[in-house]
Amino acid sequence: MCGIVGYIGSREAYPILINGLRRLEYRGYDSAGVALVDGSGSLNVFKCKGKVADLEKFTEGKDISGTVGIAHTRWATHGEPNDVNAHPHYSGSGNIAMIHNGIIENYSVVREALSEHGFTFRSATDTEVLVQLIEYIRDSNQCSLLEAVRTALKQVVGAYAIVVVEKDNPDEVIAARKSSPLVVGIGDGEYFLASDATPIVEYTDKVVYVGDGEIAHIRRGGELKIVNLDNEESEIDIRKLELSINQLEKGGYPHFMLKEIHEQPRTIVDCTRGRISPDGRDVILSGVIANKDKFLGARRIIIVACGTSWHAALIGERAIEEMCRIPVEVEYSSEFRYKNPVLSPDDVVIAISQSGETADTLAAVELARGAGAFIFGICNVVGSSIARATDSGAYIHVGPEIGVASTKAFTGQVTVLTMLALALAKEKGTIDRAKFETVARGLLDMPALIDKVLAQDEKIRDLSKIFTYAHNFIYLGRGYNYPAALEGALKLKEISYIHAEGYPAAEMKHGPIALIDSEMPVVAIAPDDQIYEKTVSNIQEIKARNGKIIAVVSEGNTAIHSMADYCIEVPATPECLSPIVVSVPLQLLAYYIAVNKGRDVDQPRNLAKSVTVE
Ligand code: F6R
Repeated sequence: MCGIVGYIGSREAYPILINGLRRLEYRGYDSAGVALVDGSGSLNVFKCKGKVADLEKFTEGKDISGTVGIAHTRWATHGEPNDVNAHPHYSGSGNIAMIHNGIIENYSVVREALSEHGFTFRSATDTEVLVQLIEYIRDSNQCSLLEAVRTALKQVVGAYAIVVVEKDNPDEVIAARKSSPLVVGIGDGEYFLASDATPIVEYTDKVVYVGDGEIAHIRRGGELKIVNLDNEESEIDIRKLELSINQLEKGGYPHFMLKEIHEQPRTIVDCTRGRISPDGRDVILSGVIANKDKFLGARRIIIVACGTSWHAALIGERAIEEMCRIPVEVEYSSEFRYKNPVLSPDDVVIAISQSGETADTLAAVELARGAGAFIFGICNVVGSSIARATDSGAYIHVGPEIGVASTKAFTGQVTVLTMLALALAKEKGTIDRAKFETVARGLLDMPALIDKVLAQDEKIRDLSKIFTYAHNFIYLGRGYNYPAALEGALKLKEISYIHAEGYPAAEMKHGPIALIDSEMPVVAIAPDDQIYEKTVSNIQEIKARNGKIIAVVSEGNTAIHSMADYCIEVPATPECLSPIVVSVPLQLLAYYIAVNKGRDVDQPRNLAKSVTVE
């Protein structure tokens, strides 16, 4: 989604800003822009529809000097993606420029009020309305830029991370946030601003996360000051970034997505490190153990999440119910937040989010807080808004996920949820030792098992060629692998743009089987599990109607070979872990089909990595 970069210091800002925008490209965007203030009192704004490379072409031969500047990648919300609606936006006089992530909900009321004062607007955006309001207040109150921003923000409703610069004021940057992340990097006599730490990491490891409803006042060469909307000063909490620049590079792979698929043996090691004893006899998730009374006393657990994280939640639901015998409900965050849910202090809410910034999940967390529930976060991005808004949590520790399609975060989320179920079940006494150790050891063995699946990369690439021109796909699974089917379908549709649906296999005969003919590829997930025979019957029903079957089966299974058109074998695992091994070939299949179709795999159209608007 939209990305923010800002700089003030002694270096030329433009290369830092462009570099930062490139680091943010993974978030998904449709236009880009930059504004530079130089010491001679000029404010130059350049922006255009398209990619950062288009912006660079656009600025060729133009005056891009200045040691303070702001830059933005926009993912359209108000107004179509075009040059005019791109950020930065600037005030009527051209004195103040601003970039903005989020949505100003009451912008049309403010716009109308400003129009009555004679203001006109170039764009259809809510952002331009806010920057004009700031200028209006600055001029009519004859106040400082900080004061104008503070007063304006008190009048708007919505979510924002903004950065503001001024033409005649090259020594000052004002930034603020509410429900949209903002990080300040502290260098040597210089400051960096960004919507996440990726543009900052190559310059400094000292960062301050601006708090919700806070304004950062940054002066060249001066101390960083943070105030709230009532002008009360906050303490500056400097954190150390645990992120390395290598983690942000492709490392020889053609796409981040392929790199991230292949990283999974290592990310599972990182995720389980120090949490499962080497003999598999113990699982220690400190956030769970420290709050075991909350979990064990819970009336029920509600898991809130979106997209791929929601699929991981469905797997977690089964694991927790099976092992801990605690009722679990899984909700889309976006539905949960508006349904007036029945919540009480003896509910535990688990929020799952790779980015830790998903607006709907953050809102669901706030709702749960209001009801007094205990909130546990499962996030990837350290220090993210959801990680900070929850009472406790467990990071998945899979490193930065740059490809828009989630891969290693999904397997990390399932791994953490399984460890959580094991740890709770042990405390509650609802799991026998043999089962506990089988699953815990299964997680320790998982990296080697995923390696075996990844060794089939070439075979899956060949298979992908047969299906590149399919118009539809169906993915079927049962039990733990029903969510794996949903996830396989989501991977394919989001990066290849082929229509795909996931179904519980036995549901087919209640309607969707009408879609089956010889043109319909069906991915049937059928590892050896309790329900294997039933799944086989469902596959036969598809075969009888000439569907093209790609079966994902356990190693050594020969029975399905005669039924399926193509088979992918995965190593045997305890049942609750099979979604991890089966999702790897499905990730590869989606990846190669998308590559064959020439799709922009890492930044598929219309998608954003971090969905910071509802
Ligand atoms: C799909 C995908 C999305 C995200 C969803 C939630 O590949 O990445 O469906 O899973 O937008 O994002 P997080 O986990 O960051 O809350």
